[in-house]
Amino acid sequence: MDHFNYRDGVLCAEGVPLSRIAEQVGTPVYVYSTATLSRHFGLFQQALDWTDHLVCFAVKANSNLAVLKLMGDLGAGMDVVSGGEYARARAAGVPGSRIVFSGVGKTRAEMRQAIEGGIRQFNIESEPEMRILSEIAASMGAEVPIAIRVNPDVDAKTHEKIATGKSENKFGIPIAKSREVYAEAAKLPGLKVVGVDVHIGSQLTDLGPYRQAYAKIAELTGVLRADGHRITRLDLGGGLGIPYRRDNNAPPLPIEYGQVIRDTVGHLNCEIEIEPGRNIVGNAGVLLSQVIYVKHGEGRDFLIVDAAMNDLLRPAMYGAHHDIVPVIEPGSDNDYQPFDVVGPVCESGDTFQKGTSLPVMADGDLIAFRSAGAYGAVMASEYNSRPLVPEVLVSGDQFAVIRARPTYEEMLSRDSIPEWL
Ligand code: LLP
Repeated sequence: MDHFNYRDGVLCAEGVPLSRIAEQVGTPVYVYSTATLSRHFGLFQQALDWTDHLVCFAVKANSNLAVLKLMGDLGAGMDVVSGGEYARARAAGVPGSRIVFSGVGKTRAEMRQAIEGGIRQFNIESEPEMRILSEIAASMGAEVPIAIRVNPDVDAKTHEKIATGKSENKFGIPIAKSREVYAEAAKLPGLKVVGVDVHIGSQLTDLGPYRQAYAKIAELTGVLRADGHRITRLDLGGGLGIPYRRDNNAPPLPIEYGQVIRDTVGHLNCEIEIEPGRNIVGNAGVLLSQVIYVKHGEGRDFLIVDAAMNDLLRPAMYGAHHDIVPVIEPGSDNDYQPFDVVGPVCESGDTFQKGTSLPVMADGDLIAFRSAGAYGAVMASEYNSRPLVPEVLVSGDQFAVIRARPTYEEMLSRDSIPEWL
């Protein structure tokens, strides 16, 4: 459930008509709902309320400082994968003791930054990384908590570009090799083994793969404990999918996911960490856009809108579907017609949907791409020198611009021309 609904014939984010935001901030613009974010975060808290836990918001899904502050104030930890994300989490007021650092390619500088600033745990993805972290931590006189990410070789049954738990993926250490790696970790200075980490992929719509992976983690935890390791934490990753279409079966709910966790690893008495991103923020955001032209093509009509693949990359990159809805609620007597909804970027890939049925549209009409709060703004670029898309946060009947649209001057000011040119 989200808080984007028609009221008095206009699509609203909570109590704010999207048409008002378009008027005051311009389009394209991302709009997020505070109530939806809070609600979704609360569902994960509730799903794990049977145990000691920390819900670490996956910053990669939406890294706006205001969103992170909201999450942090609700008690979230943060799952970060770069020095930049770490800096954002800290700037949003989240203490290092609630930040988990994941990712296959942490640099030495990023390790130092996180050790200096405070860190809850590093999730280790390879032996070379583990040895470097040991060296750095020891040289700083620190002992850093680590979990080792194991790759359980489970098929997450999701899009191949976002599946991470199969042996052919670059992530984690093969489960068969993990005992050996834990044994080495226990001997290395500067490291304190505290847990096991796993993440099998994103946009999972079936709990089966989770059940399989977590059962393997439970078994491994037993083996590692018998080997003498003190495993007190399990980081079970993120990935629970969201409904991208209103008209099909919804993926499992956080409460059902929590039950799978309880069934598979609940008996181990570990503190549970999870790293949801999309499920919290995906349906808490829309991309608001305006029709520039309706173009009659051969055998089809194009809706040329002012949002493009640089603003919302998912359709071009994964063939992802985002429901497109008119901001003005269609009446029962509205005529509908098929449109190819496209952006202004000079690539045929800049197509959001083909042949989608929408009410008859005219230049200047507003539309919203739903489910755009996760992996939307964070994956945006300035391709075609289109200024980075702005973001707005709504709460009740108020809203604030939480990232302003850069002017051309600001966009250009980041470049410089060497004097010898
Ligand atoms: N933890 C780790 C280690 C991850 O790699 C990810 C996502 C998450 C947590 C959060 O997963 P979530 O709960 O959001 O599914 N750009 C793609 C998604 C990439 C996901 C990468 N890893 C998309 O737009 O679908």
